[in-house]
Amino acid sequence: MFDEIVNRSNTHALKFERYKEYKEAIPAWVADMDFKSPQCIIDALKKRIEHGVFGYTAVSDGLTESVINFIKKEHNWNTSKEWFVFTSGVVASMNIVCGMLKENESAITTTPIYPYFLSAPKNMKREVTAVRMRETENRWSVDFDEFEKSIKPNCRLLLLCNPYNPGGTVFTKKELLKFGEIALRYDLLICSDEIHADLVLDKNVKHIPIASLSKQIADRTITLMAPSKTFNIAGLQSSFAVISNEKLKASFEKSMGHINGGVNLLALTATQAAYEGSEIWLKEVKEYLRENLKLVQEFVQNNPKLRLLKLEATYLAWIDCRALNTDAWRLFLKGGVILNDGKSFGEGGEGFVRLNFAMPKTVLKEVLARMEKVIQDVL
Ligand SMILES: Cc1ncc(COP(=O)(O)O)c(C=O)c1O
Repeated sequence: MFDEIVNRSNTHALKFERYKEYKEAIPAWVADMDFKSPQCIIDALKKRIEHGVFGYTAVSDGLTESVINFIKKEHNWNTSKEWFVFTSGVVASMNIVCGMLKENESAITTTPIYPYFLSAPKNMKREVTAVRMRETENRWSVDFDEFEKSIKPNCRLLLLCNPYNPGGTVFTKKELLKFGEIALRYDLLICSDEIHADLVLDKNVKHIPIASLSKQIADRTITLMAPSKTFNIAGLQSSFAVISNEKLKASFEKSMGHINGGVNLLALTATQAAYEGSEIWLKEVKEYLRENLKLVQEFVQNNPKLRLLKLEATYLAWIDCRALNTDAWRLFLKGGVILNDGKSFGEGGEGFVRLNFAMPKTVLKEVLARMEKVIQDVL
C-alpha cells in the first residue's frame, strides 16, 4: 500500500511548491508523508462532502469520545471530555499559550528545535531562552543542570517537544519527571507538544504524556496533540489541547479569544474517522517507516562523514553532516534532494540536515543514491 507513488505535483503541496524551480529535485523536507491517508478517512470525507451543506459545525461528543479512547489505548492516559479544546493547529495553539504570559514574562525551551518553538514566543512579544540539546549515549537529551541554571527569574513557561523534533528522542519517565520537578520548583507552566506521540518507531520505547505522570504536573500542563502527523492530514488542520486544570483551560480559552474561530468541519470529520478506524493502518505505516529508517541508517553507516543518533520516533532523520565541511543542505539540493537545513532549527542545528523518509521505498532509495553520489563527489 505504501509502495504506491502518488503524484502530488498538481495538488499545491507545500513540499513541492516551495522549491518548484528545482524541477528534478525530490522533496524530502516538510513533515508530511507521501502516502495516502487511511481509507476510512477518505470515505468519511466523501460522505460528508456528498451531504452538500457545510454550515457552522460543533464538536460532537462522538468525536471527543473517539479521541479519549484513542489516547487511552495508545498512551494509557485517562482523559475526560471537559479537558479538550479543539483548535486548528498545534502551532496556533502554541502561540495561544505564549499569549497567556504577561508581557514581562519569558519562556524556556531547548535547541535545535522545530522553529515555531523559538518564533511563537517572539511572535507574541515574549522572550525565549533556548538550552542546547546534548548527545548522551548516542541519543539527544537535555543536561538538566544546564537547563535549570538557564531559567531566568521572569520565566513562566516551559515549551517541551516530546517526541522531539528534530532528533526523534522520546523522553523517558525519568526525564519527564525531571522536567516536571523543575516546573514545580520554578512555578512554570508546561506546554507539551506531543504531535509526534503516535509515531514511536523504536519498539523498546513508549511515549508518556507528561500530564499523565501526576496530578501536580497535570495541573500546570497544556498538552497539544493532533491527528495530522499520525494519519497524514496536516492540510486539514486539526488539533486539540488537553487541559485538566479548569482555571488553566479558561485562561487558554481566553487567550484564544475568537482568533481561532473553531475547527473546520472536514477536519472534525477526518479526525473522528481517523481515531475510530485507523488502528491497523497506523500499525502498518509504522512498520513501513521502520523499514525506511533502516535504509537511512545503512546509508549513514556507509558514509563515515555522516552521523545519525538513535531515532526513537518521527519519520525525520536528523543527520549530522558537519564532517563534510560544506553547506550540506545546498550540496544535497544541487544533487537533487530537498531537505530541511539544520540552521533553521536554531543554535546547534548548523551542519545538520533533516531528511523526511516517509515516502515509498523506491523513491527513498533514489534520494539516498543521489545523496551518496554528491558526497562521493566532494570527498
Ligand atoms: C513538533 C511539531 N509541532 C507542531 C507541528 C505542526 O503542527 P500544526 O500543523 O498542527 O500547526 C509540527 C510539524 O512538523 C511539529 O513537528
